[in-house]
Amino acid sequence: MSTKYRFTLNGQPAEVAGPPMARLLDVLRRDLGLTGSKEGCGEGECGACTVLLNHEAVCSCLVPLFQVEGASITTIEGISAGDEVSELQRVFATEGGAQCGACTPGMIVTIRALLDRHPTPTRAQVREYVSGTLCRCTGYERIFRAIEVLTDQRLAEGVASPSAKGVSGE
Ligand code: FES
Ligand code: FES
Repeated sequence: MSTKYRFTLNGQPAEVAGPPMARLLDVLRRDLGLTGSKEGCGEGECGACTVLLNHEAVCSCLVPLFQVEGASITTIEGISAGDEVSELQRVFATEGGAQCGACTPGMIVTIRALLDRHPTPTRAQVREYVSGTLCRCTGYERIFRAIEVLTDQRLAEGVASPSAKGVSGE
């Protein structure tokens, strides 16, 4: 059975037809050509497939297509502003936080959700958010460093967060 679903995808109206239980990850990659979201475990354990669903970070391998009706979806392709990389992507690049193509897209999307809630997060908040996004090789220190640099920049610019101590302030 194939049903039409309408939703907002990276800020634009989108429509796709498919089985209600089709995995959002497959629909994004196969039907919509958005291959930035990766498949790792396929079981909700690794975070490689993370997208924002109504501003919440979710594993798209666990989201059935019917759940996106009327929703807002943001993928890694929608994190940048047009051709410009976002400030988050920039510090990931300059501080070595972008490590491999498997985990980085999910990591960036997850941290986008964090920064939307906590513009200048503590390291404890960063740890909590990235705990569901696994890195199996180079580790998290450069990722923490990238967010610390961004946080320091934001604090210098006067961006306030109620609990802000900088990411090194656990
Ligand atoms: S592929 Fe979705 S959580 Fe691993
Ligand atoms: S850097 Fe991607 S899995 Fe470790």
